[in-house]
Amino acid sequence: MIKKYVYGNPFPTDAVVIEIEPAADKLPFFETDNQGGFTYSLSEDDIVYGLGEQIRGINKRGWQYVSWNYDNPNHQEDTRSLYGAHNFIIVCGAATFGAFFDYAGKMEFDIGYTKRSVMQIKAAQNDLAVYIITGENEKDIVKQFREIIGRSYVPPLWAFGYGQSRWGYKNEQDIRAVAEQYKAAGIPLDSIYLDIDYMEHYKDFTVDKERFPDLKKLVKDMKTQGIHLVPIIDAGVKIEEGYEVYEEGVRGNYFCKNADSEDFVGAVWPGRVHFPDFLQSETRKWFGKKYTVLTKLGIDGFWNDMNEPAIFYTEDRLADTCAEIKKLTAGNMGINEYFTFTGMVAGLNGNMGDYDKFYHNVDGQMVKHSDIHNLYGMNMTRSAFEALQEICPEKRTLFFSRSSYIGAHRYGGIWQGDNKSWWSHILQSMQQLPALNMAGFLFIGSDTGGFGCDTTEDLMLRWLQYSLFTPLFRNHSADGTREQELYRFDNVNAAAEMIKIRYSLIPYLYSEFLKAALNNEMMFKPLAFDFPEDLTAKQVEDQLLLGNELMIAPVYKQNAQGRYVYLPEEMMLVRMQSCNDYQTEILPQGHHYVNIALNELVFFIRNQRAIPFAQTAENTTQTDIHSLRLLGYSGSSYVLYWDNGSSPNPEDSLTVSTL
Ligand code: GLC
Repeated sequence: MIKKYVYGNPFPTDAVVIEIEPAADKLPFFETDNQGGFTYSLSEDDIVYGLGEQIRGINKRGWQYVSWNYDNPNHQEDTRSLYGAHNFIIVCGAATFGAFFDYAGKMEFDIGYTKRSVMQIKAAQNDLAVYIITGENEKDIVKQFREIIGRSYVPPLWAFGYGQSRWGYKNEQDIRAVAEQYKAAGIPLDSIYLDIDYMEHYKDFTVDKERFPDLKKLVKDMKTQGIHLVPIIDAGVKIEEGYEVYEEGVRGNYFCKNADSEDFVGAVWPGRVHFPDFLQSETRKWFGKKYTVLTKLGIDGFWNDMNEPAIFYTEDRLADTCAEIKKLTAGNMGINEYFTFTGMVAGLNGNMGDYDKFYHNVDGQMVKHSDIHNLYGMNMTRSAFEALQEICPEKRTLFFSRSSYIGAHRYGGIWQGDNKSWWSHILQSMQQLPALNMAGFLFIGSDTGGFGCDTTEDLMLRWLQYSLFTPLFRNHSADGTREQELYRFDNVNAAAEMIKIRYSLIPYLYSEFLKAALNNEMMFKPLAFDFPEDLTAKQVEDQLLLGNELMIAPVYKQNAQGRYVYLPEEMMLVRMQSCNDYQTEILPQGHHYVNIALNELVFFIRNQRAIPFAQTAENTTQTDIHSLRLLGYSGSSYVLYWDNGSSPNPEDSLTVSTL
């Protein structure tokens, strides 16, 4: 059952797509101060799940989280905000219920941080809708919630292939070299990503003609090899006379305004930019149509970035900072002056105060950006998605975004942002998966190998052994870091085998994805969701159930040659060196230490279940579902969901068959 409680005058976020009448009774479970604050007393054994893309564990107890979409490359234990705002939690224990705080401004979730046994949730203003969901169990609560927020985005099948990306591929030759070297190493590949360097001076919807003289031909040549090129689009539009997108935006009044009703200026990669006012439907239509500049060249996938929106600096803050720094540096800088100096410079980027300085035009009303901040990225992806539905109605386009709010899951996937080549970031990514699924995001994945910092061969192999299970499977790294294309490592073969195994698993992964999308279910679940009576399962933070048949337990510690695994039931351990070279072993319910060599993939098939396993493929065009074999317990069957991988509505070509 879902009940909606309305406080003040909430801004329509479009997160919920089904009309629900506000309830007349008192809000259950929470005490409210009627000033945006909500308090719940936590029992010792309560678990709090959710919050989507956030740091820390599957159980969110013991920290304070802030929903404020933020370009934050430091995903650390003491971080409070990342790129998404996913204000949905499930409390499980003394009482079990779900709660969605539909509020687009800044929101704090103190889950036993200030006081261990108190959860305090606070919206910046008392203008929000709170949805309380009760049900049979956690899965039922998620299903009901997902029903009201609408069907999750389903990408084209090719998006399940492996993708290679790097901020630093500078020209056509670099892209061709990546394709050639993957081929030479015998590693399957479905996509290569174009980062900001393909643009002319980082201007959206332009192509640098010197470095990419004939992008159309490049796109075509790559397609003949089964490789899709996926360009990045940034939120900010460069201010430059003669640049069509800028001029149209100014003429059409499509940009966010400052307090004096002038186009607001911030700075990102291209220098000074204006930000499209994605909350206006006219702006969304205009900006969305711009993607045709690239779809006309044969492009069929995009990643939307810097759409929190990230602001490196605003001019007035920069001017104030420079003036202050001049004063500070005039004399002999003591410790206080020195820290003020470094703090001021660091404080330019993503400064909260800057988000108070611009406005959106919502049906003629000027709405301060900070009041609806968390909706910006969602509406950028919505703009692209809705336009492309009209422009290319016959097929799905790949979209994923960095920033999001619940509702954005209908328009695209997300990647988990600028992680680092740290071992702990394998676990961090994994712990977000169930929480993201709860919030509707199914097409998700991390920058495999790590974005910032230098990776190592063993980290890459272990990361592959985790990421090969995630729907978005992309190797991406930052300019200036160690190059991490798989062919650069000593043991290319081990990496190649992992990618080949991914391709053998695609029928299973895609089928489970379709089931999750079409039936409002989770693809990745905490163990406790399927084993609610098992007290040990409730505590497991580093294993997940994947679909209804698998459990994954990746290695995420350097030099570990294995790990402890908890089996909530008897399961079949599968140990793979390659698609054709594997051993299985039945392990009883309980605790096990499992050896896992660096070149081995280990996963678990649940008791009396089996998964479809395909011949590997060079890319998804060769994925063959007619020669599937079942891997798992003999005598068991599998229900395969499949479609043509491209029809905008998967149901139009859906087949459900029992193998
Ligand atoms: C941002 C993105 C990252 C990208 C970089 C350059 O940091 O998160 O993925 O490579 O910008 O465009």
